[in-house]
Amino acid sequence: MVDTKTQYHKIKTEVDAAVISVLESSAFIGGKVVNAFADNLAAYHGSKHCIPCANGTDALQIAMMALGLQPGDEVITPSFTYIATVEVAALLHIKPIFVEVDPKTFCIDPAVIEKAITPETKAIVPVHLYGQAANMEAIMKIAASHNLFVIEDNAQGIGNDFTFSDGTIKKTGSIGHIGCTSFYPSKNLGAYGDGGAMFTNDDELAASLRMIASHGQSKRYYHDVVGCNSRLDAIQAAILDIKLKHLDEYITARIKAADFYDKAFADTKNITIPFRDANNKHVFHQYTLQVENVDRDALHQFLADNNVPSMIYYPVPAHKQKMFDAFGGSEYYLPITDSLTQRVISLPIHSELDEEQQGFIVSKVLEFVNKF
Ligand SMILES: Cc1ncc(COP(=O)(O)O)c(C=O)c1O
Repeated sequence: MVDTKTQYHKIKTEVDAAVISVLESSAFIGGKVVNAFADNLAAYHGSKHCIPCANGTDALQIAMMALGLQPGDEVITPSFTYIATVEVAALLHIKPIFVEVDPKTFCIDPAVIEKAITPETKAIVPVHLYGQAANMEAIMKIAASHNLFVIEDNAQGIGNDFTFSDGTIKKTGSIGHIGCTSFYPSKNLGAYGDGGAMFTNDDELAASLRMIASHGQSKRYYHDVVGCNSRLDAIQAAILDIKLKHLDEYITARIKAADFYDKAFADTKNITIPFRDANNKHVFHQYTLQVENVDRDALHQFLADNNVPSMIYYPVPAHKQKMFDAFGGSEYYLPITDSLTQRVISLPIHSELDEEQQGFIVSKVLEFVNKF
């Protein structure tokens, strides 16, 4: 699905030198390299603060802790997402309230959020799924009128620009009270290991996020609140700082690959190409088709038999996962989400794809789909 090796070879000289420099410095945890990366990423992102941490899952958990969410509180979130978004709420004994996604964007549908608000609701957690932005303008309006926090799960959306109706443009992940991202290797800004970060414009929240990620320490060996241990190491920060300079070019390459697929599948019966909402850039973390009247799982197998990787993100929605039985998961009726889990299939997309590879992928998809 990705080709991190070819991508690495293009920046190998710089990356190798940066890694060796960390090894020579022996400053493996924290320090100048991590701080420099955090500053550079905050500037790119247009956020006042960037607080690096160990992974995107931790970022979401620490965000909920820093906002003071308590057991019994509720957060409104899509069920059509990677499990991390909702698992961290459950871990903190916060109740995830699953709502539908927009069938075109695959992101939380603002029209259903208000109906899900109760006196226990404390936050909305939109997910910028596959790299398309949720409608942050509508979400921020709802949050403001009900006094709710917004935590953006931007693990798949880093680098996206959201345009508000007055023309203001902001990066996804910089709009809510806290934005969270992941540097998992396949992400648009991927490390060579694990990593994550939180973003905020609020000084107090930034201090709290920083403290919680560091065992609740206000100063060394003085622990004011219960926290955790979540650090981005200096080797990953050094690598990410180099890759950050290439992030926009990686995104442009992904969009170009998506354009190629779009053109190839545009007129194919039984295939719906990804919708691109005019209010954002869609950074194509995934290129996800919807198929109809086609055995999706057989297509997935056919592609594998022909050495074409494909993935189903995600075969089971969160509300139907066993882990949410105790949270009344089986009581939800989310037909759009359920139908998407039956119909989506993601094709390889990354900065290194060439047209010959894409042509082969397209030919195999069409060979199968055109049988129906
Ligand atoms: C939407 C979403 N949220 C959260 C995460 C969690 O990130 P990580 O794997 O770095 O913990 C991921 C990535 O895996 C993701 O895709």
